[in-house]
Amino acid sequence: MKRLILALFVLPIAVQGAENPLLSAPAKDISKWENKLKEFERPELPRKEGYPRPFHLPNGYKYSLDDVCLACHTFAAHKKDKKYAPFYNAHGTFLSCTTCHFVKSGLSYSWVEIDGDRAVGKEGGDFYGLRYIRNGNRVILSGGDSRARITPVYDGAPLVIPLKGNESLLKDVKAVSKMHSALTEKVLKCEDCHREKGVLDFRALGFSDERVKDLEENEVVKGLKEYKTIHFPKFIW
Ligand code: HEC
Ligand code: HEC
Ligand code: HEC
Repeated sequence: MKRLILALFVLPIAVQGAENPLLSAPAKDISKWENKLKEFERPELPRKEGYPRPFHLPNGYKYSLDDVCLACHTFAAHKKDKKYAPFYNAHGTFLSCTTCHFVKSGLSYSWVEIDGDRAVGKEGGDFYGLRYIRNGNRVILSGGDSRARITPVYDGAPLVIPLKGNESLLKDVKAVSKMHSALTEKVLKCEDCHREKGVLDFRALGFSDERVKDLEENEVVKGLKEYKTIHFPKFIW
């Protein structure tokens, strides 16, 4: 049941180099971005003390905001789409933002964990995945015991920028503009992944056959499509 992850390889990450696609896109609309950043309100994360402890498990709430996207957007980045936003937010805990927001041919996908200022590739198996935990009338999510997230890799570089060592990028309007113009207009939706032969190769990512079946024929994805309004217990996010 435990997420077993072994560090096998370190992906070299050239954050400041021209080869990182997140920083090599053109900087556009600088003054617009200056304003956007001024007006931006960082989404609030629930206070740690409010979290219940999982029943049998060690507390798994170790969602540190350790990459540059998270530093600004947190795990509560989505709110516009009432029906799907909680799912997008939840997925951010095990998928790097770029997994859905950077869609291009020539990408491969790996589990990548941020360790200080490095993005470390992980090989794993026997994944447990999400846990939904009831807290009063709310349902919240607990992660596994790893902070690794599925991340696209392009030309050997994982598309994630560790916050550590790159704090200056948050104040660099040009860099922020570049990051956002690098993101693709096509964003992955539920069915892009939760189907047979979807964007992610679940088996290659280490999911067991049983989990692959669950992920491909995901009842939640089907249910959400059929129902216009979901009376889902409020997520903390
Ligand atoms: C320095 C803070 C900052 C960083 C770092 C940052 N964002 Fe943003 N992001 C913003 C702001 C501000 C907006 C505009 C919000 C608005 O218009 O309401 C935005 C908007 C967005 C949007 C909506 C589309 C758009 O272009 O307006 C997406 C998607 C997004 N960011 C994803 C990301 C991802 C993925 C990363 C990491 C690669 C990232 N952001 C890094 C501040 C940031
Ligand atoms: C499972 C896929 C998925 C993941 C993972 C994901 N997003 Fe999104 N995101 C979307 C989709 C789909 C939209 C809506 C695009 C549309 O329909 O216009 C969106 C929209 C947004 C927006 C616009 C604001 C809003 O309320 O919709 C922002 C900002 C954003 N994403 C940031 C992020 C950040 C930051 C991360 C990582 C923490 C992230 N996203 C991870 C799928 C995802
Ligand atoms: C980029 C691919 C991707 C997209 C897009 C995506 N998912 Fe997922 N989803 C995953 C992966 C991978 C897991 C398993 C995570 C784990 O176990 O660590 C997962 C897990 C889930 C689970 C838990 C299922 C289980 O058996 O444990 C649900 C429910 C779910 N997704 C619903 C959705 C919904 C609803 C959407 C659209 C809002 C969506 N997903 C979009 C990749 C995706």
